[in-house]
Amino acid sequence: NEGSLWGARFATGPSPELARLSKSTHFDWQLASYDLAGSRAHARALGAAGYLDADELAAMLAGLETLEARVVAGEIVAADRDEDVHGALEAALIGIVGAELGGKLRAGRSRNDQIATLVRLYLKHHAATIGQQLVHLIDALAAQADAHRGAIMPGRTHLQHAQPVLLAHHLLAYGWAFSRDLERIVDWTKRADVSPYGGGALAGSTLGLDAASVARDLGLAGPAENSLDGTASRDVVAEFAFIAAMIGIDLSRLAEDVILWNTREFGFVTLDDGYSTGSSIMPQKKNPDIAELARGKSGRLIGNLSGLLATLKALPLAYNRDLQEDKEPVFDSTETLEVLLPAFTGMIATLTFHTERMAELAPAGFSLATDVAEWLVKRHVPFRDAHEVTGALVRYAERHGLELDAVDDAALVAISPHLTPEVREVLTVEGSVASRDGIGGTAPARVDEQFARLADRVRHL
Ligand code: ARG
Repeated sequence: NEGSLWGARFATGPSPELARLSKSTHFDWQLASYDLAGSRAHARALGAAGYLDADELAAMLAGLETLEARVVAGEIVAADRDEDVHGALEAALIGIVGAELGGKLRAGRSRNDQIATLVRLYLKHHAATIGQQLVHLIDALAAQADAHRGAIMPGRTHLQHAQPVLLAHHLLAYGWAFSRDLERIVDWTKRADVSPYGGGALAGSTLGLDAASVARDLGLAGPAENSLDGTASRDVVAEFAFIAAMIGIDLSRLAEDVILWNTREFGFVTLDDGYSTGSSIMPQKKNPDIAELARGKSGRLIGNLSGLLATLKALPLAYNRDLQEDKEPVFDSTETLEVLLPAFTGMIATLTFHTERMAELAPAGFSLATDVAEWLVKRHVPFRDAHEVTGALVRYAERHGLELDAVDDAALVAISPHLTPEVREVLTVEGSVASRDGIGGTAPARVDEQFARLADRVRHL
């Protein structure tokens, strides 16, 4: 069974059906550069421990460099007989440095400790990219908020008009959510920063290799404390899949807002031509496909997480081949986000907001009723009574087809003697928004503070 990592104890090679099932090169080839980085670090550890002399180490490192260049150039690809990336690269190394030297590299390591390390290297690399992309999205949200500082929109609960809020407050709300996703990545990195290399198949190595120097070489904080845990745990991978799913969910919520805002009925935004799509039959159509793809792909990200959790459930220690199923879901999650986030950020950055339309709708649906009730409370009316009085006012206005500020003075006092004409002070959306000036409120001064605080938080993560 030439070119295979195992086979001597078998009378025959694997059946074609098994070979087909077992094969992972079509996805784990993505780990080739991390595999080669691991091999370089491992070769140095073998050299330091006396298993490779100085010439052998130099020849091994030169061979690995040549191999890497050929892999990058696409001259070396997985062959039909290769089971996985590890075997394929060992066979290719032997092709470059010969079987005598190439055959020494595998001492003291297993594909089990290799793969557990490589998936961490892969995820750390992509986590950094996704983190940067999140920063750009937060910047785009903050820039739109900044460009529309004074704009007032209807704030909603249950999708019904509730209380007016600043558009900037609404956009920054998403900025805060994405800043927590970014924080999750930063926090996850602490747990991901561990090297299982040196754990061997499960129990550790007899060769006295310096696992700490291998970890350092790979840019990881240190070796795993327990070889069984190092080779068999995948909670770090599942946690990454969760973070990716959470980012997807946060994107899908903002996406839903954009989709609604972009309808004729709302009319709050116009999408840029470069970030919207047409219809093959309806010439007039301009569709929010980026937002819809974000909504749809969030389902896929959730699926990747649930599939991975199901794979891990009840797996006994230590390594089981089931663990090979960890890679495709997280590879898909990173690829999905890396393609989605830049498009989504472009869509947000280029949105045109129709603030006059938002302002027109902001007071509709009696959205200032809470302000009336709180105005009464400031005049020492118990809130229970204030709520009743305001409810009666809303009922009157609704019955007469009026907005609250159009109810005349006589009608006001008839509803309650507390409803003096001064109540009109709070019957403007500007007055309402300005009065919500507690910490985290939508008052312009409070929203102004958020810009610096959000930027500060993102900078210090
Ligand atoms: N391809 C495997 C994985 O992705 C690593 C190889 C371990 N194989 C084995 N038979 N122990 O997890």
